[in-house]
Amino acid sequence: MEEKITKIIFVLITLALMNEMSIKVLAKESNKRRFRDKTGGFRKNICDVTDRESKVHCYCENSRELKNATKAECWVFNSGILKDDVIWQSFASQPALKTLSFSIRVDGTLNYIPSKALHYLKDLRSLTIRYAAITDITPYAFNNLTNLTEIILPQNEIETFHQHAFAHLPNLTLINLEDNTITEIGTEVFYDLPELQKIIFTKNNISSIADGAFQYLYKLLDLFLNRNNIFRMNRHTFDGLANLRKLDLRQNHIHNLTEFTFAELWNLQELLLGKNYLKYVSERAFDGLSQLRKLSLDDNKLVTLPSGLFAGVRGLISLDLRSNELYTLTLDNIKPILDNLKSQNSNLLLQDNNFVCDCRMKWIHTLRNETQSQNTILALDNVTCNMDPTVVSTAYSKMFHVIEYKRDRHHGISQADDKINISVSQYINISERENSHKAKYSDRKSPTKLPLTRTFFTIPPENLPCPREVTKTTEVPQIVMDPVMPLQNKIKTNRHQEMNSARSIKIVTILLFYVPVLCTFV
Ligand SMILES: *[C@@H]1O[C@H](CO)[C@@H](O)[C@H](O)[C@H]1NC(C)=O
Ligand SMILES: *[C@@H]1O[C@H](CO)[C@@H](O)[C@H](O)[C@H]1NC(C)=O
Ligand SMILES: *[C@@H]1O[C@H](CO)[C@@H](O)[C@H](O)[C@H]1NC(C)=O
Ligand SMILES: *[C@@H]1O[C@H](CO)[C@@H](O)[C@H](O)[C@H]1NC(C)=O
Ligand SMILES: *[C@@H]1O[C@H](CO)[C@@H](O)[C@H](O)[C@H]1NC(C)=O
Ligand SMILES: *[C@@H]1O[C@H](CO)[C@@H](O)[C@H](O)[C@H]1NC(C)=O
Ligand SMILES: *[C@@H]1O[C@H](CO)[C@@H](O)[C@H](O)[C@H]1NC(C)=O
Ligand SMILES: *[C@@H]1O[C@H](CO)[C@@H](O)[C@H](O)[C@H]1NC(C)=O
Ligand SMILES: *[C@@H]1O[C@H](CO)[C@@H](O)[C@H](O)[C@H]1NC(C)=O
Ligand SMILES: *[C@@H]1O[C@H](CO)[C@@H](O)[C@H](O)[C@H]1NC(C)=O
Repeated sequence: MEEKITKIIFVLITLALMNEMSIKVLAKESNKRRFRDKTGGFRKNICDVTDRESKVHCYCENSRELKNATKAECWVFNSGILKDDVIWQSFASQPALKTLSFSIRVDGTLNYIPSKALHYLKDLRSLTIRYAAITDITPYAFNNLTNLTEIILPQNEIETFHQHAFAHLPNLTLINLEDNTITEIGTEVFYDLPELQKIIFTKNNISSIADGAFQYLYKLLDLFLNRNNIFRMNRHTFDGLANLRKLDLRQNHIHNLTEFTFAELWNLQELLLGKNYLKYVSERAFDGLSQLRKLSLDDNKLVTLPSGLFAGVRGLISLDLRSNELYTLTLDNIKPILDNLKSQNSNLLLQDNNFVCDCRMKWIHTLRNETQSQNTILALDNVTCNMDPTVVSTAYSKMFHVIEYKRDRHHGISQADDKINISVSQYINISERENSHKAKYSDRKSPTKLPLTRTFFTIPPENLPCPREVTKTTEVPQIVMDPVMPLQNKIKTNRHQEMNSARSIKIVTILLFYVPVLCTFV
């Protein structure tokens, strides 16, 4: 009897326990189902992944609770995650994320923008992806996210974009694509981005920019195209950028600047063209830049500037022409901006050129006296010029080459050399020669020759050699028009001198300029 009772109790207890357990399990199951229904089927909280095998791990800063994190930093470990892998669905567990970044570990690769994850993040403001291998960006990769304000994608091996790669992002202000391998920018890549203010393309391999590539970016303020491979631009390259304030084109491969290249940039204030290979600049290259205040042309190959180059940029207050091969800068060149250069915050940098010491640059003395700018004064004090006969004779060889190209060139040079030798030796003040021993070009020529590079201001203005009369050329300039007709409001009369013809005129002027000097000394 007792045995029976014990057995019955045991069975009852077992049943009760089993019942209890199954109820719990059922409850859990239904809970889970409820979760799934609400959140679009995610498997786990992306901020709380404990599974060591997981392909993605995120560290969430403010809170790891479900639907409550605002900032997540994620590492992608595994390669070969499919675009619709369930891991991306797990981002539905944190729909309040405002800041999200992905770092791809060396052993993992990711070759697309994880649009499936972004799909759940309607509040996202900032997206960063680094070290991925995303060769191209597909249309609407950023899911038309309405609150997204910045997309930061450095070092991702990006090469190309599809049309509408960056599109329908109404609050986007910044795109950073630094240090990728982008080779070209096509049309309609940037589309319907009404608030975009800044694009950074620094350190890519861009050689081709389609006409009108930026045409919808009406609000863009800053465009960084420095450290690329750009060698060609035309008047449609920057179409539509009516509000651009800063354009950085430093460290590219630009040789020529043609007419009206920047004509659409009505509001541009800063144009940086340093460290290119600029040699030919059209007299009208900067036309239309009425708001330009800063222009840098340093580290180029400029030998001469067309006389009216700055006529279209009368607001210029900062001009950097350092490290070119300019042999002169005339008052004609500088006249349109001379008054600006006298103001307190002006900046005129002319060091490291091949200026020839003569009275064409006499205006520098006056400017130094009259300018309020300490920067300009300090920089002008360091300007050097050359009295080296070989420098002058190089100018001669060019002249003879251009003007009397049929004549034996070497004969012309040696003759000129002798004459210059005599004339220069007469206007050099021997007592000042010791100074120039330290000068940059001192040992460039034969080491026994006297160094002839001088600090410009050690030569009093009245001692600068000058011709008795500068004969003006009467040659009619060859008229070469840009193949595309300029817009009506851009046509200015009588300024269609093409750069080459402008140059040959200059050379004629130089010859006429020097011959009288030499004759007076011979
Ligand atoms: C979210 O986190 C904040 C603190 O970071 C906390 O005050 C709040 O109660 C949390 N909300 C939910 C729904 O968990
Ligand atoms: C975007 O931000 C606004 C303002 O903070 C907010 O009201 C809205 O819910 C966010 N999400 C979407 C999808 O617009
Ligand atoms: C984004 O918007 C465009 C145009 O409205 C639409 O064609 C496209 O399918 C949208 N893409 C996504 C991912 O929402
Ligand atoms: C994003 O833009 C929409 C209008 O397109 C606006 O209603 C919303 O508030 C903006 N969100 C933010 C965060 O500015
Ligand atoms: C840059 O692009 C050119 C073609 O335009 C290519 O030949 C070169 O290899 C590229 N350089 C790099 C570093 O990708
Ligand atoms: C630059 O202009 C010169 C003279 O017009 C021309 O010979 C040269 O091919 C041009 N270079 C480029 C890169 O367009
Ligand atoms: C510059 O100023 C000094 C002293 O004020 C004056 O002697 C000199 O003539 C001026 N030079 C020029 C070129 O105006
Ligand atoms: C001018 O040259 C001196 C010595 O060569 C140098 O110390 C100084 O920094 C230079 N000043 C400017 C403004 O370049
Ligand atoms: C030119 O200068 C060199 C050294 O500076 C000198 O040896 C030579 O005699 C000079 N020529 C003439 C024609 O004076
Ligand atoms: C040469 O320099 C000395 C002293 O520096 C000066 O007295 C003389 O006038 C200068 N001569 C010329 C021609 O500049």
